[in-house]
Amino acid sequence: MAKPRLLVTRKLPDAVEARIRRDYDATLNPDDRIHGADDLVRLAREADGVLTCTSERWSAEVLARLPATVRIIASFSVGYEHVDLNACRKHGIVATNTPDVLTEATADVAMLCLLGAARRAWEAQVMLRERRWDRWRSTELLGLDLGGRNLGIVGMGRIGQATARRARGFGMRVHYHNRRALPEDKAEGAIHHATLEALLPRCHFLSLHAPGGADTHHLLNARTIELLPPGAVVVNTARGSLVDDAALIAALRSGRLFAAGLDVFAGEPDIHPGYHDLPNCFLLPHVGSATVETRDGMGFRALDNLDAFFAGQPVPDALT
Ligand code: DGY
Repeated sequence: MAKPRLLVTRKLPDAVEARIRRDYDATLNPDDRIHGADDLVRLAREADGVLTCTSERWSAEVLARLPATVRIIASFSVGYEHVDLNACRKHGIVATNTPDVLTEATADVAMLCLLGAARRAWEAQVMLRERRWDRWRSTELLGLDLGGRNLGIVGMGRIGQATARRARGFGMRVHYHNRRALPEDKAEGAIHHATLEALLPRCHFLSLHAPGGADTHHLLNARTIELLPPGAVVVNTARGSLVDDAALIAALRSGRLFAAGLDVFAGEPDIHPGYHDLPNCFLLPHVGSATVETRDGMGFRALDNLDAFFAGQPVPDALT
């Protein structure tokens, strides 16, 4: 039987590409070019399915131009705001994501951002590397303790819960905002707030874990930043679209906020230039899921979805 034809939009880890080559008639992207809409439509002419990353936008317009052969779009990501699910439903296309496999790695990076911001890791690194460290001082590079402080989590899904578990290990008290309160076995003592406005005044530290999309666009903005206690720390490992960059940068510049730890940005990789010169910002280039095991796991999970689809079986992570 002929292998299904698969368009793979980006370069993927070796172990993932080896499985793709074995099981699919694949168009790979060894140069890791970013394909625009026209290229995606052209390349999809040879495909029964697509394995995409978040760098490609599957808008209603692009989906309408796809050949009828394309029946599944599997994303190498847990987030899926780059795929128009309503348009997929309209065209009978199955869309999938990769939940679970990146939960722990991303929660690790949330803690890295939290610690990096609270303990001024960037300033310390720069001082050392620029050979400006001339002596130990009792008053230099003083950061904030985590223990005994409140961590507010917006979006207490899998990654939010995994971050809460880690934060408890650092002696933090966890508060969260979700539309619905979690059952106690999942909340593990975290205190629910029905609104963002109720949560924010409690947060010495705030970590964002909500999905991207219109509902969460700029949920952190000049108004909501004012609800945080003075000197709070903001962490974002979810999506850049959650944050109004100009408002966050202004609050970091003025000292209204102590620091921020950010792994995701609106318009990445072209981040707001205001971040480049801010000393109280610990910045990472979207590496939340970037471990060997996790990136392999994401690829295998996407392939499990594709394999099930082409075998006519239930698709584990179907979103449509
Ligand atoms: C995800 O899986 O959504 C991560 O942000 C990687 O793109």
